[in-house]
Amino acid sequence: MTVARTILALALTAFGPTALSAQSTDILLNCSACHAVAPERPTTQVFPDLNGQPIRYLERQLEAFREGDRRHRQMELTALALGQGDGAMARLYADAPRPVLEPKGMNDDTPPALVTQGDWSRGLAPCASCHSLDPDTDRARTAPRLHGQPEAYLADQLRAYADGRRTSDPMGRMRAYSARLDTAEISDLAAYYASWRPETEEAKND
Ligand code: HEC
Ligand code: HEC
Repeated sequence: MTVARTILALALTAFGPTALSAQSTDILLNCSACHAVAPERPTTQVFPDLNGQPIRYLERQLEAFREGDRRHRQMELTALALGQGDGAMARLYADAPRPVLEPKGMNDDTPPALVTQGDWSRGLAPCASCHSLDPDTDRARTAPRLHGQPEAYLADQLRAYADGRRTSDPMGRMRAYSARLDTAEISDLAAYYASWRPETEEAKND
């Protein structure tokens, strides 16, 4: 938190805040209130975890909120207020250690077939060809870790790609894939990735 605030202060000094009032800027830019910086633990499981995500991915998302390729009122204002200072914040989270995750809370931790095999009859590449099957490594510079993200968040992002609310994906691939998934598949995929929890957390039902 202290590190986050220092970097932010430096970034704002360098680039200057936007027209937002000092008070609202303070709330919008208190990133760690919603996205805990590791090793600090998140207080809720509502917000996406940014720790250890690829730098290129994080930078692209802040740009997407600014440019309207992702819609979320709070994060749009945050990204606008952050402006040119966003590189420092993306770097802070990208350099933070990613959580050590384990599959928990599911009777069977075999990934859904769509994750490992895809469904070529529908032109669906396996999710794991871009989003690593191993939450400790990345496969692609622009594809984020999905393991351990909040279930409702993951499902909402897939629906947002499917109905065109989120257009930040390179070459429209996530939009094309998501539009071919049915409601049950979206729920299953979100539940699978969200069932990976920090190893220090109690299991839900085993
Ligand atoms: C009041 C809570 C809150 C604050 C403060 C906040 N965020 Fe967020 N952030 C969110 C929410 C909610 C989302 C998910 C938005 C959505 O559903 O599209 C998000 C999404 C993001 C994402 C995209 C994550 C992903 O996996 O795609 C990035 C990057 C991000 N925030 C960075 C920041 C940074 C940097 C700051 C501080 C300058 C910040 N946020 C401040 C709530 C917050
Ligand atoms: C060809 C590579 C590729 C494949 C295959 C792929 N993805 Fe993605 N996915 C990406 C990229 C790249 C992004 C980041 C796009 C952006 O910037 O909005 C992404 C973003 C996402 C996000 C948003 C994550 C966040 O933190 O906001 C979700 C959820 C997601 N993918 C789920 C899936 C699922 C589920 C599958 C399998 C059905 C899948 N993806 C298959 C490349 C891929």
